[in-house]
Amino acid sequence: MSGGFMKLAEERYSVRKFQDKKIDKKELEEILKAGHIAPTACNIQPQRILVIESDEALEKLKECTKCHFDAPLALLVGYSKSECWKRRYDGKPSGDIDASIVTTHMMLAAQALGIGSTWVMHFDPEKMRKAFNVPEDIEMTALLVMGYPHDEAEPYEGHSTFRSMDEVVRYDSF
Ligand SMILES: Cc1cc2nc3c(=O)[nH]c(=O)nc-3n(C[C@H](O)[C@H](O)[C@H](O)COP(=O)(O)O)c2cc1C
Repeated sequence: MSGGFMKLAEERYSVRKFQDKKIDKKELEEILKAGHIAPTACNIQPQRILVIESDEALEKLKECTKCHFDAPLALLVGYSKSECWKRRYDGKPSGDIDASIVTTHMMLAAQALGIGSTWVMHFDPEKMRKAFNVPEDIEMTALLVMGYPHDEAEPYEGHSTFRSMDEVVRYDSF
């Protein structure tokens, strides 16, 4: 398969250097829509997304993570622990999975618009909770920092190093 989805997925990389330019409102709406239509367990849609875009909020973000990369915008994606689906056999909750699918949709939608991003997990959840008044019921899954890639943005050297398919894919039995 060439072009289309595979091209988009192959060209994406974690962008960690951005232009000093705010994200266009219409483009942000499109990215949020891509997250909005993502599949979630039983279609419960337990995700909650905080748009961090004002200069004041972006300054607060810098207190919560070193992985802000001076991005002009960040999306904090979490989910409601009480609402999300739980598997009855073992109680495994779907929330992190749901929120990750939503985040992936938004990451790829951004890429399609020429907007770069990095998925960040390395943040202090307690500082984040306090800084942005995140309710106790919301578990924070991902921070997606994003912006228009700087001319000097380039993939980290490990970006296209992949394990062999044989190592990660099994057929019929593990
Ligand atoms: C769940 C998850 C958490 C990540 N957390 C961070 C992070 O905290 N800081 C960071 O700089 N990159 C983070 N990344 C980006 C990965 O390091 C990156 O996706 C990986 O090295 C592959 O590189 P690529 O995105 O350029 O293909 C994270 C990615 C994922 C999927």
